[in-house]
Amino acid sequence: MRSPYLQATRRGLISAAVASAASINAPGGGRSRAAAASASEPEVPAMTKVSFRINGQDRSLDLDTRTTLLDMLREHLQLTGSKKGCDHGQCGACTVMVEGRRIYSCLTLAIMHEGAEITTIEGLGQPGSLHPMQAAFVRHDGYQCGYCTPGQICSSVAALEEIKAGVPSHVASDLTAAPQVTAEEIRERMSGNICRCGAYSNIIDAITEVAGRPA
Ligand code: FES
Ligand code: FES
Repeated sequence: MRSPYLQATRRGLISAAVASAASINAPGGGRSRAAAASASEPEVPAMTKVSFRINGQDRSLDLDTRTTLLDMLREHLQLTGSKKGCDHGQCGACTVMVEGRRIYSCLTLAIMHEGAEITTIEGLGQPGSLHPMQAAFVRHDGYQCGYCTPGQICSSVAALEEIKAGVPSHVASDLTAAPQVTAEEIRERMSGNICRCGAYSNIIDAITEVAGRPA
C-alpha cells in the first residue's frame, strides 16, 4: 500500500523536479515565471478525518480524500473479505452494503459515506455463526475459487431485501405488481456480480432457498 504521506512527499519532489527542469531550460538559465509560481503553490491538504459505523462498530481514521471505500476497507481496516476484482465497477467482487443498499465499493470514495452504516461480508456472519445466506452458499456449493463469493453474498442479501421492498427490476412485466423470487428475477438482480468459475446455478439455488422458495 502506498502511504498518502509518501505520495505528498513524492508530489513535492515532482514539483521540485519540474521547477528545476524549467529553470535549466529557461533562457539564460533563469527560472521561468511558471516554474516559480508552481514551486510557490501551497500543497493542498489531502488528508481528512472520517468516521463510519462498520459491521456494528464505530471506526474513525485519517484518510486521503481520494481513497475508495474498497481500499479503505481492505488496506486501512484490514477487512479483506471484500475483493478487488476489476476496480472498475464491472465484476461485483467488491460489493458491500451501505445503509442496507448494495454498492460497488471500488467505484465510490470513502469520504462520500461519512457517518454511514456499512456492512461487509465480515459483518454478515463469521465461522460458527454464519448468516443464512453464507450457510446456504456452503450447502449448495455456490462457489469454487471463492473470489467472487463475498460480493455475491452481500449482493444477494440486499437483492432479497429489494424484492421484499417491492423494488421492480428490468424483467418485471408489471411495475405495479410485487416482484416474486423467481430464477429470472434472481439472475437479473445478480447480473452485476460475475463468477468466473460459473457457479451461477448453485448460487441461484442458495438464494432461492434463503428466500423460502423451493429450489
Ligand atoms: Fe468493484 Fe470489480 S472490483 S466491481
Ligand atoms: Fe470463483 Fe466465483 S467462485 S469467481
